[in-house]
Amino acid sequence: MNQITITAPDDWHLHFRDGEMLNETVPATARCFKRAIVMPNLVPPVTTKEQALAYRQRILAARPAGNDFEPLMTLYLTNDTTPEDIIAAHSSTIPAAKLYPAGATTNSDAAVEGIESLYPVFEAMSKVGMLLLIHGEVTQAEVDIFDREKAFIDSHLAAIHAKFPDLKIVFEHITTADAVDFVLSGNANLAATITPQHLLLNRNDLLAGGIRPHNYCLPVLKRSTHQQRLREVVASGSNKFFLGTDSAPHAKHTKENSCGCAGCYSAWSAIELYAQVFEDLNAIDKLEGFASHYGADFYKMPRNTSTITLLRDTWTVPENVELANGDSIVPFYAGQLLKWKLA
Ligand code: DOR
Ligand code: ZN
Repeated sequence: MNQITITAPDDWHLHFRDGEMLNETVPATARCFKRAIVMPNLVPPVTTKEQALAYRQRILAARPAGNDFEPLMTLYLTNDTTPEDIIAAHSSTIPAAKLYPAGATTNSDAAVEGIESLYPVFEAMSKVGMLLLIHGEVTQAEVDIFDREKAFIDSHLAAIHAKFPDLKIVFEHITTADAVDFVLSGNANLAATITPQHLLLNRNDLLAGGIRPHNYCLPVLKRSTHQQRLREVVASGSNKFFLGTDSAPHAKHTKENSCGCAGCYSAWSAIELYAQVFEDLNAIDKLEGFASHYGADFYKMPRNTSTITLLRDTWTVPENVELANGDSIVPFYAGQLLKWKLA
């Protein structure tokens, strides 16, 4: 097979950042994705409808001319979020709210402590049909970082799903066999996104033969048995798992640092890398469902009507992406040869 044409895909989880960075991140995503769920972990976070709509306008202003990419906005839940905030914000442009346990990841200091205190908010979300997107890791210092996803399922997520079975939950960027099994065991309102890095890599790619800061993301890469389970489940074609890149740019000097930031900037190569994974799994026929159908179906949005074509053609991901402010970003898979190219 030398080319693949699929329904245009959407990215159900990414980070665009703000300001000057939008001129890099928005075109990079809009080159192939039609819609994206935009994470609200700015500084300060996007906690109100007004902030989300203003942020959306800044994203639209950075869209290439003639491109009809559509940003879908999210609200950042805090301990101060009220059911009224949810009811006011929920719309087709703000379809979801994001739960970060406090301290779980980049810019999550303002996030939620004592998740149960948000149950009235979850109740409101369930009623109005707003999706709950969850960064599923506990944050207690004593819990091993490799166990934090499983611990989150056991101590919070299972209870939330049981108490609010009608609440649509996306367990974001899952990394473990435990998460796969949990999502499969849940009802139709529970789904998950999976990133390219968690399908392509395991913790050896982070730590063996030298620390590779550009493979560092959260949740952290796990052992290869978990990677294999993620690969198996996407190859199975289950509609509970769909594309969310978690593309998350950080300036090079903040990743190549004694306390490096978490995040892989994959917008430049994500769809090509997913195609590579599905081909390696002999499951290229399952790419379209994962990339272009199941997410839209879960969000109850129409599937895209246009298509994209990927050609079997090699190209090398650039080593650096230069920003107007003089910083540079090292994209995910920098300097590596890819087998598929967007036409
Ligand atoms: O690796 C990550 N980077 N994981 C997250 O959850 C946040 C993201 C970021 O914002 O940089
Ligand atoms: Zn993210």
